[in-house]
This record gives sequence, structure tokens and C-alpha cells, in this order.
Amino acid sequence: MAKGSTEKIVLLTGAGVSAESGLGTFRDEGGLWAQHRIEDVATPEGFARDPDLVHGFYNARRAQAAAAQPNAAHQTLARLQAQHPGEVVIITQNVDDLHEKAGSTGVIHMHGSLSGALCAACSHRWQAPLEMHPTDPCPRCSAPATRPDIVWFGEIPHAMQGIEAHLAEADLFVAIGTSAQVYPAANFVEAANNHSAETLEFNLEPSAMASLFGQCRFGPASQTVPAWVAELIG
Ligand code: APR
Repeated sequence: MAKGSTEKIVLLTGAGVSAESGLGTFRDEGGLWAQHRIEDVATPEGFARDPDLVHGFYNARRAQAAAAQPNAAHQTLARLQAQHPGEVVIITQNVDDLHEKAGSTGVIHMHGSLSGALCAACSHRWQAPLEMHPTDPCPRCSAPATRPDIVWFGEIPHAMQGIEAHLAEADLFVAIGTSAQVYPAANFVEAANNHSAETLEFNLEPSAMASLFGQCRFGPASQTVPAWVAELIG
């Protein structure tokens, strides 16, 4: 892509972009899904069965994310967003706020966010306290039905209409640190290809969708992403 171009860049990030900030990924060796069963901590059924266990899982992740710092990948993406003449949209599957801590704006959290709380009874949303418990009353309806505002397996990701519109307008689609094993995010590269966008993937190894990307750059995101951003904006 020529420097200074006004191309629209749409980015999708996954757990790999936060790995070097100390936050665990899901499917790497020893990842979160090796430590916990998805059906126990990341499904509505698991929450109904044992809300204490689920709140405990997210309380631990919320505390870890609160203590984590953005790495060079988050920081250079924020710089790209600020300095690239065209629109730069960050869609993340991550529930941490490291893109925001690095200064990125308008980040689309398609799987929700650790900083959000949701009432399962009245759908009220508010800023989550660091620790949540099943007996916490909803600030609006007082029902003891509060849950993390996270999209669990079997639930509908947020902002899909807006995401599809961004993918249709993208001149360049970039995926960073995702294994591309969870839908609909895994299909975004296909949508980008269908609209003749350039496509680029950053990972440690080929993701499940690597063959659909025009270019793949391998290595730790904290090194490969800054190198790429420097090519674009110096
Ligand atoms: N730099 C670049 N890529 C990395 C790094 C790194 N330092 N460390 C790990 N990766 C890559 C891995 O090779 C892997 O492809 O990041 C990817 C992490 O994959 P997953 O753990 O599956 O995470 P993700 O793709 O974000 O999962 C998607 O699944 O469990 C659900 O809702 C959860 O949002 C999550 C979704």
C-alpha cells in the first residue's frame, strides 16, 4: 500500500495481540481453554449452572487485564489510527482494554468487554466493578441477575451489521493474533476478499485461514506490527 494513501484499513485482533502483555491466549499451549472447560465458564448454560464459578473466572481475568499494559503492537496501532490519512477501524475479539489503554478509539469489542456488566433480567449495562458476584443487585431493576457483559458461545457477537459494512468498505483487512477458529470472526477475511481488499495476517504461525490472506507475516506481534506500521507511516 502506497504511503500516505487514504485507504481504509480494517483490523481484527485476537488474543495473540495481548499475549506479550501477559494475558493468556485461549488455544496456545496451556491456554485458557486448557485450564477451564468452555462449557463451564463461557456459555449461558455454564453461568446458569454455577454463576459463582463464572464470576470467579471473569473476576480473575478482569484483575489481570486491569494490571496489564499495552505492548508495542497496541501502541503502534493507536499511532496508525492517529496518523494514517484514511480511516483505521479496530475490531477486537479480545475483552481486555489494552487497545484503549494504548490510545486507540472507537474499538469494536465484538465479544464484549471485561469492563462491562449486564443484567440478565432487564438488559441494563453499566461499568463492571473489579469483582462481581451472583448476588450483586442490578443498579436499575435490583434483580440479582448480573453477569459479565461478555458474548459467550452460542450468543450473538456485538455490532455485526457495522462490522459487515466496514469489511465491505475495507481497502486493506489485517488480522493480528487470532487462530481464526471461532466464527463469525474467522469469516471476515472471506468478506474482505469478496470486496477485493488486500489482506494481511500477523501470527506466530499460519492460522486456520492463512491460505485466504494475500500476505502473512510471522513473528511476535510486538515486533512484526510496529515494523509494518513504520512501513506505512514512517
Ligand atoms: N504474536 C502474534 N500472534 C500470537 C502471539 C504473539 N505474541 N501469541 C500467540 N499468537 C497467536 C497464536 O498463534 C494463535 O493463532 O494468537 C492466536 C491466539 O488464538 P486463540 O487463543 O484461539 O485466540 P483467539 O483467536 O483470539 O480466539 C477467538 O475464541 O474462545 C473464544 O471468545 C474467545 O475471543 C476468543 C475467540
